[in-house]
Amino acid sequence: MASTAPWWRYAVIYQVYVRSFADANGDGIGDLAGVRDRLPYLRDLGVDAVWLTPFYRSPMIDGGYDVADYRDVDPMFGTLADLDALVSDVHAMGLRIIIDLVPNHSSSAHPWFVEALTSPPGSPARDRYVFRPGRGTGGELPPNDWGSVFGGPAWTRAGDGEWYLHLFDPAQPDLNWANPQVYAEFESILRFWLDRGVDGFRVDVAHGLVKAEGLPDLGNVSRDLLRSVATPYFDQEGVHEIYRAWRKILDEYPGDRMAVAEAWVGSPVRVARYVRPDELHQAFNFEYLLAPLEAGAMRKIIDESLAAAAEVGAPTTWVLGNHDTVRPVTRYGDGPAGLARARAAALLTLALPGSMYVYQGEELGLPEVLDLPDEARQDPTWERSGRTVRGRDGARVPLPWSGDRPPYGFSPDATATWLPQPVDWAERTVAAQAGAPASTLELYRHALRLRREHPALREGSLRWLEPPSADVLVFARDPGLVCAVNLGAEPVTLPEYGDLLCASTEVTGRVLPPDTAAWWSR
Ligand code: NOJ
Ligand code: CA
Repeated sequence: MASTAPWWRYAVIYQVYVRSFADANGDGIGDLAGVRDRLPYLRDLGVDAVWLTPFYRSPMIDGGYDVADYRDVDPMFGTLADLDALVSDVHAMGLRIIIDLVPNHSSSAHPWFVEALTSPPGSPARDRYVFRPGRGTGGELPPNDWGSVFGGPAWTRAGDGEWYLHLFDPAQPDLNWANPQVYAEFESILRFWLDRGVDGFRVDVAHGLVKAEGLPDLGNVSRDLLRSVATPYFDQEGVHEIYRAWRKILDEYPGDRMAVAEAWVGSPVRVARYVRPDELHQAFNFEYLLAPLEAGAMRKIIDESLAAAAEVGAPTTWVLGNHDTVRPVTRYGDGPAGLARARAAALLTLALPGSMYVYQGEELGLPEVLDLPDEARQDPTWERSGRTVRGRDGARVPLPWSGDRPPYGFSPDATATWLPQPVDWAERTVAAQAGAPASTLELYRHALRLRREHPALREGSLRWLEPPSADVLVFARDPGLVCAVNLGAEPVTLPEYGDLLCASTEVTGRVLPPDTAAWWSR
């Protein structure tokens, strides 16, 4: 049955954290040529598309989410010609490619901000950012009580006494989206990349662009990046107008161009507002990522997500991890039990209706690296929190490809990688797992192949079936597929569901062991 749905609706999209994927030129840092070399790996894995994290010119204070030139590639990652070649190779393989867009803030090294700092208060150059006089008799206090997501105040004082807003690092000044020049500039940036052939964008901090009128104090609200709700700087009504304008631009281009919102807004209903028919196409389902891996909690969030998305006619976009969150293996308990649960979660997620994002290394069952030496840490959170919050580096360690010691084929031998890799990753490399039937890599390859082939795993809706215990999830996707997940401590015996297609640990007969998911089909 030929589907008329646009490609992204059921796609599995693989997140490439460029800095840590593959290093072609041997400086210990991943690059675009490295991604290009490894594209056959992604094709064979069976994903539909690739999302590249920022590769733009950047001082790399926040891993490239501090952009100094939105229209050029940082020499660390290669050249615009490398990007063009990568886009063309991706398309030649029948895959799609989306890129990161960072509209909430620029780098402090961006020419606009450099100009703003050397221009007087009240000048047009300052109006592209959020400058305000301070409070207190001499303006020595920040304009309001907002805190940076990375720790410390969200305001830094410029040389002449005015303060500027940065919801993240001081090297990431927030742009002023009430300024028409900012609006026009990003429309032009969208077109620049659409003209180069990218299939879409992942919109960074999509919920942050518009701030409440008058920048009121926050008061007593949580400042957590992951859970912030109803703040004067996140999820303001005005952001939706921006996405309506962008949608019109995306629709002008042929080939189902799309955008996915990174919007940490606290509930599936709020998330769904970003994917109304005239706005963006997808929004990451972070509530699903944050839910405890328990049957009741998972069923609840799955139901809420499907209902909220259906309300606006959008697909759900499941996600288990990314470069900002602790890797699933570790989140679900670490060690062999954490790995078993992460494998079960992957099979569960791949059986849900909608699309899924896979963060590089999830298919290898990589754990979070918890013992990075302090001096190696690069996440600004570490210093901004006074070295109390370790931050996100542990999810960003370069991938192990082959061999039995660092750099495991990530870089040419003997190169020191930008974050050190663990010495015990020899069994986790791509080469060690390829062809090994019980490996996590082969589990992903198998499940992704089934997902492409089995008709139920596209349009089929989800129907809950009676579980044998409260710790078990069982659902059908029509026609003919059943997925069961045992999240309890005891094995359970299931009814007959047909032929076993795929299982996250060994399953014999109708008994589903703990921490296991399986698919059957008739
Ligand atoms: C979300 C990105 O994923 C994260 O890595 C970054 O630090 C913030 N946005 C700020 O751009
Ligand atoms: Ca490199």
